[in-house]
Amino acid sequence: MCGIAGYIGYRKSLPVVLESLKRLEYRGYDSAGVAFFDQNGGVRLVKAKSRITGLEKKLNGFSAVEGSAVIGHTRWATHGAPNEKNAHPHSDCSGRIFIVHNGIIENYRSIKADLIKRGHQFISDTDTEAIPHLIEENLKSEKNFKKAFDAALGRLVGAYALAAFDVLSPKNIYIARLGSPLVVGLKKEECLVASDPGVLSGKFKKVIFLKDGQRGIINLNNSVFYPKSLEISRLDSDFKSAKLANFPYFMLQEIFESPEVIKSALQGRLLKNNVKLGGLEQVADKLKKIKRLKIIACGTSYYAGLLGECFFEELAGLPSEVFLASEWRYKKEPREPQTACVFISQSGETADTLAALRKAKKEKYLCLGVVNAVGSSIARETDAGVYNHAGPEIAVASTKAFISQAMVLILMALFLRQLKSKSIPNNIFEELDGLPDKIKSILKNHLRIKSLARKHLKRRNFLFLGRGYNYPAALEGALKLKEIAYVHAEGYAAGEMKHGPIALISKNFPTIAIAVRNNGTYEKILSNLEEIKSRGGPIIAVATQGDKLISKIAGDVFYIPAANSFLEPLLAVVPLQLFAYYFGTLLGYDVDKPRNLAKSVTVE
Ligand code: AGP
Repeated sequence: MCGIAGYIGYRKSLPVVLESLKRLEYRGYDSAGVAFFDQNGGVRLVKAKSRITGLEKKLNGFSAVEGSAVIGHTRWATHGAPNEKNAHPHSDCSGRIFIVHNGIIENYRSIKADLIKRGHQFISDTDTEAIPHLIEENLKSEKNFKKAFDAALGRLVGAYALAAFDVLSPKNIYIARLGSPLVVGLKKEECLVASDPGVLSGKFKKVIFLKDGQRGIINLNNSVFYPKSLEISRLDSDFKSAKLANFPYFMLQEIFESPEVIKSALQGRLLKNNVKLGGLEQVADKLKKIKRLKIIACGTSYYAGLLGECFFEELAGLPSEVFLASEWRYKKEPREPQTACVFISQSGETADTLAALRKAKKEKYLCLGVVNAVGSSIARETDAGVYNHAGPEIAVASTKAFISQAMVLILMALFLRQLKSKSIPNNIFEELDGLPDKIKSILKNHLRIKSLARKHLKRRNFLFLGRGYNYPAALEGALKLKEIAYVHAEGYAAGEMKHGPIALISKNFPTIAIAVRNNGTYEKILSNLEEIKSRGGPIIAVATQGDKLISKIAGDVFYIPAANSFLEPLLAVVPLQLFAYYFGTLLGYDVDKPRNLAKSVTVE
C-alpha cells in the first residue's frame, strides 16, 4: 500500500509531486523519496525515512529542470525494513533508470538472483529494485527503452503500479498498471500520474484510469497508451480534498462528521415513503430474481457487512451471508443460483476485496458495490452500486465510513424490500430522519468518554461485548482500540463469554459492553455483566438513556438515546470510536497515521 506520483509540466515540478505525495500519505508513510533532473543536468535522488515533510526539508534549495520528468513515492514497507535505503525511487547499476512502484512482485527473488549472477549490484532489500535492473539487463540487447521496459514487465508476477523515467529521455514518464491503481491527469501543458484520482482533483478534468495490463508513455506532446488506447473520463467533482478544520486530528473531525454523513447517505434516496437508489435501478429486474446475498469485505467494512446481513434478512427477507474477502477469494464453493454479491469498501482499492470481486464476476454473479471513493477500481468493476458520498476519509481508522456503510446497507435492504412489493413501515423513515440529531447528542458528551479513557488508561487488555445487531458494533469498537491505541482488544458475542473468554476477567481486564434496551436481549447481557462483576472485572457499559438498572452493575455507564434495534449499533459505535480516539491521543500517538497501518490495503 504505497503512493506513487509523477509529473511533467510547466509548473515547478518538485512542489507538485510533493503535494501529490502528501495527498497519498494515507497509503503509507514510513519513508519517501523523489527522483528528478536537477539544474546541473544530472539526476538527483533524494530519500527520507520520514513523512513527506521530512523529505521536503531535504529538498530545500533544489529545483527540477522545467518540463522534465519527476517521480515520487510514499512507502508502506512490504519487502525490506522502512528505512532510507529501501525508500523509493529505485535505480539500476548505471543510474540510468529510476522507478517508483506500488504493489508486490512475487517472483522478485528469482529475478534478483539471476541478475546478481549477471553482475548486477543491488542496494536495497526491496522487491521493486529488481525492476530497473531487469530493464537495464534488457537494454544490453534491446536498444529501444519501451521494448526493454515491456520485456521486463513481461517477466513480473504480482501486482504493480509503476512510474519510471530513463535519463536519456527526460521528457517521458513510462507507466504501467497490473493490480494496483493508477490514474493520469492530462492537459496540453502538463500531465500528472498518481495512485488515486483524489490527487488530481481540482487540477484535472480529463483523466485516464489505467486498466490492468495497460501501459503508457507520458509526454507533453503526445502521450500514448497501449496495448489499446483508453477512454478519457471526466473527474467527478465529488473529489473534495479534505481539510482539517478546528480539530486536532482528522479522526476526531470525521467522527464529528457522522451526522452530516448520515444526511449525505440519505439525501435524495430516502424519500417521503419510498427509497430511490439510482445506482441500482439499472439492475432492478435482475435484483427481483435474487433469493440470496453474499456480502464480502475486509476489516471495518466486514463489520458493516455483518450489520448488512441483519438488515437484508430482517428488512428485505433475503437470506445473507458475510465473508472476509481474503478468505472468500480462495474458497471453493458451488456457485449458488439466484445469488448476488455485495462488495463493501471505503477506498474501493482493497486488494483482497477487488480480487474477490473479480472471482465473483468470473463466476457470473451479479456484483454490487458499496463504495466511498468515487471512480475507484471496485466502484468501476462492479455491475452496479451505491456510493456512500461520505467525503474523503483521511484518518487511517475508518469511523464515518462505517456509519455511512451501515446507512447505505439499510437503504439497499429497504430498496430490495420495495422490489418485492412490500411496503416500508412509516416509523423507519422517522427513525432514519432522526438519527443525525441523536448522534449529535452523543457527540456533545464526548469529553465524558475522554474521562473514561483516562480512567482506564493503564489497561492493555479489553473485552468488547455485544449481542444481535450490537455484536458487529462490539467487534468494530475492539478494532478501533487495537488500531489506534495499540491495545489488545477482543470483540465477542456476549453469549459466547462463558465459552472461554470469561477466564480472562480480572480487575485489570475491563469489559466494554453494549447494553442497550431495544434489541431483545437486554436481560441476557445484564446476566453476562453480573457474571463479570462477580469476578471483579471492571465494566464500562454503553446503555440507553433512562436505564435505571445498569448503573447497579457497571462501574461506568455512557448513555445513548433510545432507538430502533437496527439503529442502536450506529449510536453505540460512536462512544466506542471516541474511546479509541481519546485512548490513543492520551497515550500520545498520532491517531491519524497509526504505526504499521495504511488507509488502503492495496496489496494482499
Ligand atoms: C478500518 O479502521 C481499517 N483501517 C481497515 O480495517 C479497513 O476497514 C479495511 O482495510 C477495509 O478497507 P476498505 O473499506 O477501504 O476496503
